[in-house]
Amino acid sequence: MPEKPDRNLALELVRATEAAALATSRWMGRGDKIAVDRAAVDAMRLVLNTVEMDGVIVIGEGEKDEAPMLYNGERLGSGHPPRVDIAVDPIDGTRLTAEGDAGALSVVAFSERDTMYAPGSMVYMDKIAVGPTARGVIDINAPVAENVAAVAKARDRDVDDLTVVILNRPRHAELIRQVRQAGARIRLIRDGDVAASIAAARPNTGIDMLVGIGGSPEAILSACALKCMGGEIQCKLWPRDESERQYALEQGMDLERVLTADDLVQGDNIFFSATGVTDGEFLSGVKFFGGGAHTSSVVMRSKTGTIRYVEATHRWEKLMRFSLIEFDR
Ligand code: FBP
Repeated sequence: MPEKPDRNLALELVRATEAAALATSRWMGRGDKIAVDRAAVDAMRLVLNTVEMDGVIVIGEGEKDEAPMLYNGERLGSGHPPRVDIAVDPIDGTRLTAEGDAGALSVVAFSERDTMYAPGSMVYMDKIAVGPTARGVIDINAPVAENVAAVAKARDRDVDDLTVVILNRPRHAELIRQVRQAGARIRLIRDGDVAASIAAARPNTGIDMLVGIGGSPEAILSACALKCMGGEIQCKLWPRDESERQYALEQGMDLERVLTADDLVQGDNIFFSATGVTDGEFLSGVKFFGGGAHTSSVVMRSKTGTIRYVEATHRWEKLMRFSLIEFDR
């Protein structure tokens, strides 16, 4: 049935990721990860609390009282409908920002209440992510060489034309060896696998897929983005040690279960926003010009599939008359 256009919450979310990016980027390259995190968290909380919604953080940064963080179970917004689940990573790339390196984003996503997968204390997931052109051909349980070959075929290229993104971690030594043996090119990244998943789904980024173990919150955020973009992600919980394996079993979590994008976030009413903090693959970082700053964001909605790029200019002269956030310190 045709519908009248309704409210696009993503257009409100972008104010939150912009505010977090503006606040945290003041700390770029100053070597202080706590200050980077605190600035992003405080700004994002302030703006999300102005949104007309009854929001609960499902994917936050852990339990209450380990400040600074937006904690799991925290309520945000006016308290009035719509009732939404919130996944938030005020800064994906804390270390990148603190060290002035490329690729940090501020990210947030909403979906309808009780639709996001809550990984509890399971910090990591094994992941494979691709864009729309390779959707339906990947299998996280298959050897990586088979996935690389399948993605190359689906994208109508040779395996040696393919670029696979992997987080540069010792735990990936064997995975990297296998991708090299398969003949694909590799882009090793220091941090930031949400940006890498999005890059795999965007045309002309030169990135074809992401594989490897990264954060669980980032997996749910990537699933939100990829559902908006028509891509695919498959994940499996990845216990770091025996005690995490025991924890997962006690919680009734199935470590062999393949979590698809639909398992990670159900339904098709997902809103996603990301703003560049430091310069990255597809979003520019915050640029200050004395009297203000420019930000670059991507704003997406799964129901309509609309992807917007929002270039914003922020002027301190006006903003600082009323803003509680110290953008201009
Ligand atoms: P934060 O900046 O939020 O800490 O995350 C950075 C990040 O690189 C994620 O993008 C990634 O999923 C995760 O850390 C990987 O974890 P680890 O650094 O422990 O390997």
